[in-house]
Amino acid sequence: MAIFEVEPGAPLMGEAVIHPAKNAALPVIAASLLTADTLVVPDMPDLTDVQSMCELLVACGATVERDGASMALSARQLTPPASAAMMRWTRASALIMGPMLARLGYARITMPGGCAIGQRPIDLHLKGMAALGAEVTTRQGFIELHGTLRGAVVYLDLPSVGATENIMMAATLADGVTRIENAAKEPEVVDLAHCLNAMGALVHGAGTATIVVRGVESLHGATHQPIPDRIEAGTLCCAAAAAGGNILLRNARPEQMRALLFKLQESGTTVSEFPGGLRIRGKAKWPMEIRTLSYPGFPTDMQAPMMVVACVTPGTSVFLETIFENRFMHVPELIRMGASIRVEDRVAVIEGGYRLQGADVRCPDLRSGAALLLAGLTADGITRVEDGAGHIDRGYVRLEETLSALGAKVRRL
Ligand code: UD1
Repeated sequence: MAIFEVEPGAPLMGEAVIHPAKNAALPVIAASLLTADTLVVPDMPDLTDVQSMCELLVACGATVERDGASMALSARQLTPPASAAMMRWTRASALIMGPMLARLGYARITMPGGCAIGQRPIDLHLKGMAALGAEVTTRQGFIELHGTLRGAVVYLDLPSVGATENIMMAATLADGVTRIENAAKEPEVVDLAHCLNAMGALVHGAGTATIVVRGVESLHGATHQPIPDRIEAGTLCCAAAAAGGNILLRNARPEQMRALLFKLQESGTTVSEFPGGLRIRGKAKWPMEIRTLSYPGFPTDMQAPMMVVACVTPGTSVFLETIFENRFMHVPELIRMGASIRVEDRVAVIEGGYRLQGADVRCPDLRSGAALLLAGLTADGITRVEDGAGHIDRGYVRLEETLSALGAKVRRL
């Protein structure tokens, strides 16, 4: 069981190299099920969510070969996994539905797991598959989908990232043209479209609200590198804005981080961009108003790390969480550290500028865990992030090492 110990330290200095994104890697792993050939990912991030997803693929009959950071995924054989348990490890397990249905005409999944940040239904995924011609039934805790897929117009009530990705993958092998309307525009959706097109798919419009997929007979192997992690980069930006510092983030893509960087600049930090990365300097000075939204709005995954910045910045900040209904689970832990935060429904009001106090805190979910590590950097005394701190390894590659390389005092016990 992972426990992280954080001591307050000097402002952060130096450089970090941003890893490939979890949220780009997981759908690419699922996409490998669309072909009997090999999909190669040259640099796969070393994350427990990636391991869970790979174990699920192996349970579907695929082979996963690692050579250093490189990973080769081959699904010559494909069968629905027998066990429901491994689908509860990661939310992204739902992403095997589209590829499996498209390739076999049959898929069987269970309700996926992942962070308990809200109800996280998959109704939009299922409605999409039904629109493409699948018959959806529930039996003994499993959701079963049958049918030969035909292109169709699919309107999403919400621009769900996972539903857009799942439907996009299913549509690559459907008969005819699919239009996904009100599609998610996240960079990871665009990255998946690039991967699918490298495999021979015909996907257009990813990154806009309408994605058009022209179905093809079959897909082939390819090599695809998932994009750098804008959430890891953003978390490090928040670390610098909370603790002070001057750090260079290589591989960061500022053009995919506009909403966050704009807010950090508005609150008094200096951000400079250059080809291949960004630099952030200084400590936040002024309070902020944050409303989480779908891309290109402020990412819900950045809400917890940004709240730590608000806690240590003088003035009243207001956060509105519009994406997930249960995403303030870091708040009681921050209060345990001396933060002044009031939550009413989906609004958090933070009276910032007080010094946080180190404490033993529990890690309720992935992004909250990262936020609590950042809080520890700014607190007096020692902070121990325990009870679920393994969540952090689901989405950050050895975050304690990345922060330590920037001069922070963070240890894994
Ligand atoms: C993805 C990201 C996650 C991020 C989230 C929002 C991955 C692996 N995870 O999660 O880090 O926090 O996007 O940016 O990429 N919804 C429904 N019905 C559905 C699907 C979603 O009501 O069928 C709702 C959800 O409950 C939530 C909202 O839509 O309120 C957004 O969810 P969605 O975009 O699907 O998030 P994920 O793909 O699960």
